[in-house]
Amino acid sequence: MASQKEKPLSANAAASQHSFQVILMAIILMLVSSCLAPSASAVEQEAEALLNWKASLDNTSLSLLSSWVGNSTCNWDGIGCNNIRSITHVNLTGSGLRGTLHSFSFSSFPSLLSLNLSHNSISGTIPSEIGFLKSLQILDLSENNLNGSIPHEVGLLGNLTILSLHNNELSGNIPLEICMLNSLSVIHIEKNNLTGSIPESIGNLSNLNVLDLGENNFSGSIPSSIGNLTKLKELYLMGNQLTGTIPNEVGKLKFLTRLGLVNNRLNGSLPSELSNLKFLKHLVLSGNNLSGNIPPDLCSGGLLEMFTAHNNQLTGLMPTSLRNCNSLVRLRLERNQLTGNINEEFGIYPKLAYVDLSYNRFYGELSENWGECQNLQSLKLSNNRISGRVPQFEGSIQLHILDLSSNNLTGTIPRQLGRLTSLFNLNLGDNKLSGSVPPEIGMLTNLQQLNLAANDFNGPIPEQLDGCRELLNLNLSKNKFSESIPLQMGSMQTLQVLDLSQNSLMREIPPQLGQLVKLEALNLSHNELSGLVPYTFDNMLSLTVIDLSFNHLEGPLPNNKAFLEASAVAFENNTGLCGNATGLNACPPETRGGKKGSKSVIFIIVFVLAILFFAFVVFGILWVRCYSQEAQNENQFAVWSYDGRLEYEDIIEATEEFNSKYCVGVGGNASVYKAELQTGRIVAVKKLHIVQDSGVANFKAFESEVRTLSEIRHRNILKLYGFCSHPQHPLLVYDFIEGGSLENILTDENHAIKFGWIERVNVVKDVANALSYMHHDCSPAILHRDISSKNILLDLEYGAYVSDFGTAKLLKADTSNWTSFAGTFGYSAPELAYTMETNEKCDVYSFGVVALEVIMGKHPGDLISYFLSLSLTSTAQPIQLKDVLDPRLSPPGNHVVEKVVTVLNLAFACLRTNPQSRPTMQQISNELLF
Ligand SMILES: *[C@@H]1O[C@H](CO)[C@@H](O)[C@H](O)[C@H]1NC(C)=O
Ligand SMILES: *[C@@H]1O[C@H](CO)[C@@H](O)[C@H](O)[C@H]1NC(C)=O
Ligand SMILES: *[C@@H]1O[C@H](CO)[C@@H](O)[C@H](O)[C@H]1NC(C)=O
Repeated sequence: MASQKEKPLSANAAASQHSFQVILMAIILMLVSSCLAPSASAVEQEAEALLNWKASLDNTSLSLLSSWVGNSTCNWDGIGCNNIRSITHVNLTGSGLRGTLHSFSFSSFPSLLSLNLSHNSISGTIPSEIGFLKSLQILDLSENNLNGSIPHEVGLLGNLTILSLHNNELSGNIPLEICMLNSLSVIHIEKNNLTGSIPESIGNLSNLNVLDLGENNFSGSIPSSIGNLTKLKELYLMGNQLTGTIPNEVGKLKFLTRLGLVNNRLNGSLPSELSNLKFLKHLVLSGNNLSGNIPPDLCSGGLLEMFTAHNNQLTGLMPTSLRNCNSLVRLRLERNQLTGNINEEFGIYPKLAYVDLSYNRFYGELSENWGECQNLQSLKLSNNRISGRVPQFEGSIQLHILDLSSNNLTGTIPRQLGRLTSLFNLNLGDNKLSGSVPPEIGMLTNLQQLNLAANDFNGPIPEQLDGCRELLNLNLSKNKFSESIPLQMGSMQTLQVLDLSQNSLMREIPPQLGQLVKLEALNLSHNELSGLVPYTFDNMLSLTVIDLSFNHLEGPLPNNKAFLEASAVAFENNTGLCGNATGLNACPPETRGGKKGSKSVIFIIVFVLAILFFAFVVFGILWVRCYSQEAQNENQFAVWSYDGRLEYEDIIEATEEFNSKYCVGVGGNASVYKAELQTGRIVAVKKLHIVQDSGVANFKAFESEVRTLSEIRHRNILKLYGFCSHPQHPLLVYDFIEGGSLENILTDENHAIKFGWIERVNVVKDVANALSYMHHDCSPAILHRDISSKNILLDLEYGAYVSDFGTAKLLKADTSNWTSFAGTFGYSAPELAYTMETNEKCDVYSFGVVALEVIMGKHPGDLISYFLSLSLTSTAQPIQLKDVLDPRLSPPGNHVVEKVVTVLNLAFACLRTNPQSRPTMQQISNELLF
């Protein structure tokens, strides 16, 4: 009991002694510095200190420190010395180090100028002894797992110029002592859990160039002393809980190029002093509660490229300076209360790529000048009060997204829009447009979204719409379209959502619509359609939502789960629909098909139908039970992929134009970034580096394959959300998988031990299922071409996801011997050495290597040929199971050993030299159905 009582007491004492400790530390420092000249023993002391620290680190992480033996520290990797052999630099960035700093003897390095341990897995706190590094100029501990608070003793590092602690788990306040470090020029402490307010005394740091406090939990207001940081070029305070106004003193930061205040709780108006910032390039203020007018002269230096202030309460007119701001690239002011005549407020912007002014109060007519913005990719003006006609956008040949919905536009759609072949989202819905839809819309071959709903369009739906071969979502509802539904629509095979409701469409539904096998939602309600619902609808297996109400339809419903499960509302107000759906009358037996025949034939048909129906209901129930979860996700996926390229902008924003701090991996062919989109979804963005001469044809083939891939949904294939077809670095956007690659898990001792036999067998099964699906259930078959343990990702439950299907086709390996060879050395089939022709059997071979690797715990290497020779010569010793099992695991128990042996036998079969004698992925996947 007594000791329990003492604890709070001693904690209090420690707190009150804190300033005393700092003084003590300073005295110790003075004593240490009195013995400056390094003797032989000082050199030895440094070596010993480093070796002690090395010994304290997790020994799986030391492969890069293998040169750290003996005494010659100056020759060790990552170490730099001055001319008297004292250590001045320690640079171990990205060395895979795992451990803490607690055994690092800071006092042993009086000459250290730079300590860079960034991009490792160092955990624990930053020891207060860091204050001993009195010569230190650069301290970079960013991208680790450090926690606890920033020690006050950092304030003793009087020569510090760069302090970089970002991307850790640091908490607590900014120690005031830091604000005394007058030499500091760069502070990066973003992406931690720091709290408290930004200290007023930050204004002392008069040499600061960069200050990044973003994505912490700072509160309070921005101190006006920030105006004393007159050398500041970049100021980022985004993603905190800052309140109050933007201080006018910001206007004193005359060299500022980037100001980022997004996602705080700032209010008040934008200080007019912002006009003093002649070097300003990026001004990003969105997601606050800012009000008042936009200052008159934001573009006074003529350099402003990005101005975003969406989701605020800004009012008034656009300032005239923005009208003439030629440098603008991105302008986002959506969801404010801005007003003014859109024709007068905007000029011609040669560089402008992205404009979003939706949800404001702009009025007036759209000028043809928009067509002179040659780099325009997105123009979003929805939910304003814009009137007049739709311009022709003559020169805007890069336009991807044109959203003019929910305005007061009149007139017809100009035929010239058919020339905008880059368009993938055209939304003119909810206006007062009229006339017939020009057939030229069918020339928009990349269009994915077409929304013309809620206008006054009339005449027939143009049959040429089937030229939009990529269309996913077509909404023509709430117009006056008449005549029949064009049968050509049946060839729009990519359609997922088709809404033709509330028109005057008549006659029968064309049976060709049944070919829309990817259609998920079909709304034909409120038309004049008559006759039977076509039989062919039985085949629309993706359909989940259907509405046929308010027509003149009759006869039986198709045998299709969407119809069977729909509520009665979906069929109400028709002439005579019948069937087993809720609320409908049963059909008289001979209705379907209307054919007459002998009674016995009818009886047999009815009997067969009844059995089929029963099977269907059972299947349907199973389907619903197994897949209701999945269906929900798919739905989300659908909405998401609609915006395909739209996310490119979000990705640019989420990764701050591919800032290296979001980079989670770099390979020979691509860099991978982790991006959290505004929706909160976390995605992996793969930026491919394309070899210059890989050719346009190649790229086109790749592009079409990627499109196919983005529609594929398989449990064990990494979900591809979308891609952007920039010719030099196309982006692929995938689901972000938390666990890491199979390769990483197998090479990491700690992980590998936890990765047991059952999990390993399951991973092999998962990969086999994914490949079998792509080879045998897709038409045409899709090859991976680069299966290796790098491309297989595991989630936290060891579920496997195969990634990068088809990507290898586009990329050339950089090894000079293999110029036209796709794939990873050590995984590719031997025949690829003399033939360019890849087929399924090449994937099978690579799969065999991976399967062996999973069981052995490492790449089989030269053993592959050894195994092959064994299987050929009958005199050889049979392979002993224990020779190939990962020695880090205890041998598999009785119930698993059989499965492991099956995997090994299959793997050997896959490695056969003759491609024809390798099994197919389908056979393998079946063999693994234990
Ligand atoms: C900022 O500068 C002003 C005048 O130059 C000075 O009075 C004030 O003390 C400074 N504030 C800080 C926190 O350095
Ligand atoms: C935003 O500012 C307005 C006044 O301009 C105020 O009425 C409102 O409460 C503020 N909203 C938030 C969320 O702070
Ligand atoms: C189909 O469209 C009508 C009218 O446009 C709408 O009222 C109805 O909710 C839609 N049905 C479904 C299932 O979405």
